Amino acid sequence: MHDWIDYYDSTHTIYVSREHRDEHFRLIADTIIGYISSPDATVLDYACGEALFAAKVADACGKLILAEPAPGVRGRLVARFSPNTKIRVRALDELKYLDAASIDLAVMISVAQYMTPKEFGDALAMMKRLLKPTGRLVVGDILDPKVGTLPDVMALLRFASAHGFLKDALIGLVRTALSDYWTLRQQIGLQRYSEQDMLALLGAAGFVATRAQINVGHNPSRMTFVARHAFERMER
Ligand SMILES: C[S@@+](CC[C@H](N)C(=O)[O-])C[C@H]1O[C@@H](n2cnc3c(N)ncnc32)[C@H](O)[C@@H]1O
Repeated sequence: MHDWIDYYDSTHTIYVSREHRDEHFRLIADTIIGYISSPDATVLDYACGEALFAAKVADACGKLILAEPAPGVRGRLVARFSPNTKIRVRALDELKYLDAASIDLAVMISVAQYMTPKEFGDALAMMKRLLKPTGRLVVGDILDPKVGTLPDVMALLRFASAHGFLKDALIGLVRTALSDYWTLRQQIGLQRYSEQDMLALLGAAGFVATRAQINVGHNPSRMTFVARHAFERMER
């Protein structure tokens, strides 16, 4: 396995069961919807993964662009959503062809940890170009260097308990410990950023940002940041 994109393109077991996968994507979709400011909004989900509930997000906005680097995942997105005229599926490389200032809301959820700092910086520069002056960028599920693995485990168990898949979660944790995910996590690692790191990185990319009170997704020990063009904030 070459990198995290190959991992997400494989038949991985990051979701411990169908219930876990469905509840995860339902929660992510509902969270994205909470950030949509208008029914006409154009929304970009950067590295969206399987995005199982994207049709629900599309119902709440004018247009939804699902951008995903893993070719197999992208193929499934096309198969699943091609009848939906509000949804477009794109490779990350294709985003450069989108018009500048054409996106109202961009989200990057659970992605930065898998990117090199250079890739993350380039993605932020892309978002800066694509966002409308009034647009917002939500960068979620950031791992803090101070927080270890135990809170991830506890968050999964709480989520599983709330949604009735606790037994699968316990089995899944053992399976994950023995899987490619853990090997890759040891070999390549996950990028971690403190709150100060993230505010500085977003600032350097031309945004002003604040940390959201609640992280997107099920893990309260991770962080979410909401960013706007810096000049937009200064005009207020
Ligand atoms: C944990 S999934 C998150 C999917 C979705 N955003 C969500 O919240 O469910 C990680 C995503 O990051 C993508 N990814 C992995 N490595 C990446 C990289 N180096 N650059 C961009 N995306 C990457 C994967 O293809 C996958 O879609």
